[in-house]
Amino acid sequence: MQAEVRKAAGMICQARKTVALTGAGISVESGIPDFRSAGGLWERFDPMEYGTIDAFRVNPEKVWRMLREMSAVISRARPNAGHDGLTRLQRMGLLHTIITQNIDSLHQEAGAVRVIEYHGNSRTLSCLWCGQQYRADELDGEQPPKCACGRILKPDVIFFGETIPEEPLRESYKLASSCQILLVVGTSAEVIPASTIPYAAKMAKAKIIEINVKPTWLTASLTDIFLEGEAGKVVTGLVHEVKRLMR
Ligand code: APR
Repeated sequence: MQAEVRKAAGMICQARKTVALTGAGISVESGIPDFRSAGGLWERFDPMEYGTIDAFRVNPEKVWRMLREMSAVISRARPNAGHDGLTRLQRMGLLHTIITQNIDSLHQEAGAVRVIEYHGNSRTLSCLWCGQQYRADELDGEQPPKCACGRILKPDVIFFGETIPEEPLRESYKLASSCQILLVVGTSAEVIPASTIPYAAKMAKAKIIEINVKPTWLTASLTDIFLEGEAGKVVTGLVHEVKRLMR
């Protein structure tokens, strides 16, 4: 493994542009369960009943039972060594942008500057009926949160059945198609269109470095270097090796 870390660090030092794609796995060590591992969110809440935009329109109170649990866990979470390590790479000028599927804002809390929130974020909420938008921290804590028009608000995160807004979609594809390295951290790459990002990078001849506790469908198909382990530990080791090489 150490040889693989050294090789990955060397590639990152040499690359003109490295982009990261992160998923729920990078926030697991911050106490936020991921979706598809054992004990993950979709094991407790059926995504077809709680995670689709139709489910929200039909029964927002029910979906807010899941959202309440998620927001309680997110509000207690702090960035972990995985987030901090990616921020350090960015500050060293070795990581251009972080494309995250996560809605927890932990990359920004860790000081990352260029972050594309591919699935939106939970900092703001909108009314599907009248379009009014609110900041989560300006609401009075009523559960579920309501709009002035009386309807239940929806967090500005992308539910299944919703399209990714044009800006993050285009920007992410442009970055994937112009990077030399795509650092894929803590994602099962099960969800389209986010899961097309590694493919776009590969088509543009980028090298894929994957960090995960276990292999995914990417590992045997697109990944060039697979660094097995928890994101916090592996990213920290990678940054340590990059620093050693940069001396
Ligand atoms: N370190 C590294 N990887 C980890 C860790 C960890 N500590 N813990 C879990 N993982 C890995 C799992 O092995 C898995 O491959 O993180 C991945 C998490 O996969 P998912 O739970 O499917 O989460 P993600 O890939 O982010 O899901 C994508 O699906 O449900 C939607 O909108 C939701 O953004 C989410 C999208």
